[in-house]
Amino acid sequence: MSETGSALSWQLCARCGKELPVSSPGSQCPDCGGLLEVRHRPPSIPAGMTLRETFAARRGLSGPLDASGVWRFRELVLPGAREESVVTYPEGNTPLLSRAAVSQWSGVEALLLKHEGLNPTGSFKDRGMTVGMTQARLLGARAVACASTGNTSASLAAYASLAGLPALVFVPEGQVALGKLAQTLAYGAKTLLVRGDFDACFALVREAAEKLSVYLLNSVNPFRIEGQKTIVIEMLEQLSFEPPDWIALPAGNLGNTSAFGKALREARDLGLISRLPRLACIQARGANPFALGFREGFARPHRVKAETVATAIKIGDPASLDRAIAALRLTDGVVTDVTDEEILEAKAVVDASGAGCEPASAASVAGVRKLVAEGVIRPGQRVVAVLTGHILKDPGLLLRYHQETEPPPSRANRPITIDAKLSAVEEVLGTNRH
Ligand code: F0G
Repeated sequence: MSETGSALSWQLCARCGKELPVSSPGSQCPDCGGLLEVRHRPPSIPAGMTLRETFAARRGLSGPLDASGVWRFRELVLPGAREESVVTYPEGNTPLLSRAAVSQWSGVEALLLKHEGLNPTGSFKDRGMTVGMTQARLLGARAVACASTGNTSASLAAYASLAGLPALVFVPEGQVALGKLAQTLAYGAKTLLVRGDFDACFALVREAAEKLSVYLLNSVNPFRIEGQKTIVIEMLEQLSFEPPDWIALPAGNLGNTSAFGKALREARDLGLISRLPRLACIQARGANPFALGFREGFARPHRVKAETVATAIKIGDPASLDRAIAALRLTDGVVTDVTDEEILEAKAVVDASGAGCEPASAASVAGVRKLVAEGVIRPGQRVVAVLTGHILKDPGLLLRYHQETEPPPSRANRPITIDAKLSAVEEVLGTNRH
């Protein structure tokens, strides 16, 4: 801790070990270019209380920090943050759902769904954004920016508006789901439709952040990761710190996989849990560089030209590959990929269960089913699948699936046009009678 003195938190380059103060604004190590991570001193908690009790005592309180499912765990997120500087909606506090139809379809008897789509802007990104935006304000950033497949941009736009900071987002033209684009415009971010894919947007925003000194809020930003860790911490708390056997999540740019690994490592080191769940990272078949690497023991990085209906994870060259590999190794995790057909079927099952989610989120459920079929996950194991985004994020795809696809998929729910007559209603009811 040579450079960081008595600070509560500091940044560390995971590649070369260089330490930097939290006030250092870049996402990469100035010496070797590696990604940074935030480290904290051991939590200081009230005498006579455990960390678990400290978190539990805040549940249900209404102060701005305690009301948030991110800042309630502030000792693990950013212990030095003060109430007046935190940019919070509040966010988090998402439910852990049990839906019989989804369990049955997946093949896991006790499947639980951590529904991150129930965050304020409809995705898990809000958990990272509250911390990243707080940091932007602490640093006195003049503007914030991100590249996005849509959810990060929606979240950044909302939180920039809360913080009173100008926001600039780079999204691939014609490839962002309707709900996400609509949100981004409505929350007021300056929205650049880039002629290129997500990977091109990301390269451009990185250059812009460096040369035009705007603060970069993609998940390479280590403060975003600190917030996203709370998906796992909150889930563990909901399970009374009895960890599940598996946590399944969709994997794109790999920030979330990295955050889950860091959360689990820290939870174990702090004694919150005594064993680690295994991570199951699920990619779309057409956007599967992480799955390709996993099959070869990560002998070399893969890059693909991404193509999938799950536009949120349509990413060919993931930025957080190294730290995601570390998360997998730590948890004895696996990576697999699922086809667009499998994603759409999983989504139809999740949607019809009443839980509902966006296409990328359904990849986690499709992946669980595949891993059960392959004998990797056993039906009696405890599994949590993370639903990362809300059902209304991608209404275009929903309407195509249910109304337009020919021949109709087996789970399509076609609307029925009728004349405004009771007899027509009766006729419909009749056809539905078994
Ligand atoms: N699920 C959803 C709904 C997402 O929006 C994303 C990423 C992921 C899963 C994958 O998470 O990238 O950390 O591996 N969305 C980013 C965005 C890329 O711009 O909104 P990851």
